[in-house]
Amino acid sequence: MEAAITSTNLPFRKFSSGKVRETYELEDGHLLMVSTDRLSAFDVVFSQGIPYKGAVLNELSLFWFEKLASVTKNHLAKNYDVASLKLSPAIERRSMVVKRAKMLPIECVVRGYLAGSGLKEYMQTQSVCGIKLPAGLRNSSQLPQPIFTPSTKAEKGHDININHEQGAALVGKEKFNGIEELALKVYSAAAAYAKTRGIILADTKFEFGEIDGEIVLADEVLTPDSSRYWPAALYEEGKNQPSYDKQYVRDYVEGIGWGKKAPAPILPQEVVHNTAEKYIEAYEKISGKKFQR
Ligand SMILES: Nc1ncnc2c1ncn2[C@@H]1O[C@H](COP(=O)(O)OP(=O)(O)OP(=O)(O)O)[C@@H](O)[C@H]1O
Ligand SMILES: [Mg+2]
Repeated sequence: MEAAITSTNLPFRKFSSGKVRETYELEDGHLLMVSTDRLSAFDVVFSQGIPYKGAVLNELSLFWFEKLASVTKNHLAKNYDVASLKLSPAIERRSMVVKRAKMLPIECVVRGYLAGSGLKEYMQTQSVCGIKLPAGLRNSSQLPQPIFTPSTKAEKGHDININHEQGAALVGKEKFNGIEELALKVYSAAAAYAKTRGIILADTKFEFGEIDGEIVLADEVLTPDSSRYWPAALYEEGKNQPSYDKQYVRDYVEGIGWGKKAPAPILPQEVVHNTAEKYIEAYEKISGKKFQR
């Protein structure tokens, strides 16, 4: 297994450094977004990377942007050849060139099933983000129809679920309605495709931005970091599902009693290895393509 890439040092001006991505400024409003192999869980970044993870995230995002091209515009700079930057092969496969967007300050979560913070909120209020749901739903229940459940984009710490009035107050009513409709459309198209691969797309988070006044799908899209993917064959209502996201790591760190606050614990080599295999498996299941190691 190759070594994990947890940091980058490229000869461009740094634009931003997130939990997972390092972004650099190129000319003419272009950005180079590099997905590193960094892993975060419960909003804490681990010191160890997961080999290949950045490549999985980048290649899956590219796969989905193309797959969804008829449903939504995206931030990819199609005419900018990443090869022209002469990056190392390991960095190149973790990189995409995008057009710089004015990001909307909302995490656009769409849920088709009840899990995670949505399940928690439902158990307390029978609604999620102010959307009233039928009584009697259980852990992992399919919702009568997919719902848009936005959250704030917290600079630090955890995102907070917001209702539609709060969302509209953040970006304006018209834009809010626009991204709600678009997010639901993209989710439905993606979920329908995932189904053909034997996978349930339980929920996912999109980020939209504006380029030249137009709303485009930006950031990463439909990766195991931003989505809950469940093997359809093993789906059983009423309990947690095995999943292709980082649930495996979450289970491990919860199992050893970690308090979910920095610093993150050191992961045994076996856990690092198994996590890498999970990401690769997710790529292959979703795309139907063999992952090149
Ligand atoms: N086309 C774009 N133009 C400008 N910014 C973008 C674009 N696409 C994505 N971004 C931003 O780049 C960052 C990606 O970095 P990363 O995913 O590592 O951040 P993060 O840890 O998720 O933190 P956060 O998303 O809360 O900033 C995000 O802040 C995202 O909103
Ligand atoms: Mg992010």
